Formats: sequence, structure tokens, C-alpha cells
Amino acid sequence: MRESTDPLVATSARYRAFAEVEARGLSACYERWAVGIADDPQLVSLIDELPAAKRQPNLMFSAARFHGAPVGEYAPFAAWLPKHWADVAATCLTHATQTNEPGRCAVLLPALAALAGPLALIEVRASAGLCLHPDRYSYRYRFADSDSDSDSGSGSGSGSGGGDERMLHPVDGPSPVLLDCVVSGPVPLPERMPDIVWRAGIDLNPLDVHSDADVAWLEALIWPEHDDRRSRLRAAVAVARQHPVEIVRGDLNDEIEALVARAPAEATVVVFHTAVLAYLNETDRNRFAGQMTRLPVRWLSNEGYSVVPGVAERLTATPAESSAFILAQGSEPIAFTQPHGRSLHWIR
Ligand SMILES: C[S@@+](CC[C@H](N)C(=O)[O-])C[C@H]1O[C@@H](n2cnc3c(N)ncnc32)[C@H](O)[C@@H]1O
Repeated sequence: MRESTDPLVATSARYRAFAEVEARGLSACYERWAVGIADDPQLVSLIDELPAAKRQPNLMFSAARFHGAPVGEYAPFAAWLPKHWADVAATCLTHATQTNEPGRCAVLLPALAALAGPLALIEVRASAGLCLHPDRYSYRYRFADSDSDSDSGSGSGSGSGGGDERMLHPVDGPSPVLLDCVVSGPVPLPERMPDIVWRAGIDLNPLDVHSDADVAWLEALIWPEHDDRRSRLRAAVAVARQHPVEIVRGDLNDEIEALVARAPAEATVVVFHTAVLAYLNETDRNRFAGQMTRLPVRWLSNEGYSVVPGVAERLTATPAESSAFILAQGSEPIAFTQPHGRSLHWIR
């Protein structure tokens, strides 16, 4: 889309692009709202009262829903927004898009379970830390094709099932959080949960699962029609509230070495992240990759194509979906993943 120096056109174009590229097919409500705003100069000038970085549709729509905006058609929303603008703007200024998707654990779990334990987990950019409890959720892995079943063995122990799917539960029984994931390729589905003895995260602005306001914000960040994700988030928050995990406040590059040093000496330290490095500039990205090589850790990254230095070059296959992430251990690609954890194609 052509850049414009006119701030009204810039915001209008931004909302139109959001409608067409991001919301279409995923949220009819957000698509309607974004198209409506793109064609509504009065609301565009309201939004332009915010600093440019805070005008992003996802942030503004989440803030509006946080304050009770009527979900659905554009006209009621357009009537509601000016009346509640002071609240919405204040929330945009004090909050950020920090969606925490526990579903991502489904693609991490086989890689974690393949490592020699006990494990100490560190997630960088952890938000509220909901991905730090992979052993406390239940999983339903469905096989995309029957060939992959033969590579993954049959369920026993805490895992169960057969045929076209495999269930895996925490050692103390089924979790209120059930994560579904379609698998293909020779994925080494675990028979039991990895032994995780310590866990911590790093985030510039950690969200607190014990804070109702933070949880309400996490709920508002999930798009309107995605009720299943909201129920899962609530269930994951309930699990996380029973098992508090420290999320260190700070920049991942500044905090990682000290946090690794705090992990129990007998544990294998695993540093992991999803969709992180693309947001760092090249200097910070290389600094982080350098720390992952230097520190005594296993490094699991789940990132877009060619984001982690050296990974794409080692691929011997191409993903079926251009939006697929690559799960890698160090610079070794091991799987293609759907970014929210809905599918996993093992390639190693
Ligand atoms: C979209 S959330 C991702 C949450 C989680 N990783 C997940 O997959 O569900 C991104 C998080 O990164 C944090 N963040 C951004 N830059 C960071 C940095 N340089 N160091 C640490 N955290 C950062 C933000 O505060 C936000 O909580």
C-alpha cells in the first residue's frame, strides 16, 4: 500500500489493510469495523489523536472491547466509540498487544519431551507465562495421514488413544485445558510429560495471571468470534494461578544470562520463544543468537521463515503453508508449525 504523508490517509489505509489482510476470514466483526473506520474521516481523526504506534487496529479494537464496545455491526460501534473515547484512548496509551496463546505448547511439547530431563524452562517474551505450563495441559494430537501414525508409536502411560488421534495428559490426570493439534511427518509424540522442575520467563511488561484487570485485557486481545480461545485462556489462567511462575521484567537480551544462572544445576535449561526475533533489530537478534550459542542451554525457537540465523539454509523441505513457522533446536530445523499451535509437521 502506498505510504502517505497525510495522517488521515495513513490511518485510513492502515485500517483498510488490516481489514483485507488480517481480519478477513478470521473476524467478520473486525473486518467490518476496520472497513467502516477506513471510510469514516471523523473516527479517523479521533484515532489520530493517539501517537502513531498506538493507532494499530488490533490495539484500538481490543481497548474498545475491554470497555464494552458492542460487538457485531459497524453502525452501533461507530456510535459507541466517540462517547467512550477517553477510556479507549487511555487504555491504548497504557496497554500493548500481548496476546498469550497457550495453544503454542502443542507444537513445543514433542521437542521438549525429546530432551534429556529434568528440564528448566525459560520463555523469552512470555507475556503472562501461559506457555510455561506445557506439562499441565492435555493434548489431542490428530494424525493428518495414517503413515505418520506408524512413526510415532502407540500410546501408553499417561498418554492414551489410538487410531487417528493420541491423547496425552498431565501425570495427575486430564487438565481443564485441552489443546488440539494436527500432526504429520515422523513426529515423536511423547508417551508421558517431560519432567519440568523449574520455570521462569522474561517480558518487558509481564502480565499477572492473578490480576483480574490483566486477565480481562488478555481476553480482550482475543478476537471477538474466537470464543473457544477465550475459554481456553480462562482455563489456562486457572491452571497458572495454582502454580505461580516468576516473569522477570526486562529486555530479553539483558536478562537472559542472569536467569539461566538461576536455574537448578542438575536441570537441562531450555530457552524457548515464539514470534520473537522478527521484532528485534538485526543487532539485537544477532546478540540473542550469540547468547544462545554461548550459554549452557538448549534453544528452541518457533519463528517465521529465515528469522533465526542459519535455520532456513538447513531446510531440506518446504512448508505447505507460506505462513508456517519453523521450529528449530539451535540452527537445526525440526518442524513446520502453524503459528498458534494448531498443526505440526515434523521434518527431522
Ligand atoms: C505477543 S506477546 C507473546 C506471548 C507469548 N510468547 C505467546 O506466544 O503466547 C509478546 C510479548 O513480548 C514482550 N516483549 C516485547 N519486546 C520484548 C523484549 N525486548 N524483551 C522482553 N519482552 C519483550 C511484550 O511485552 C509481550 O508481552
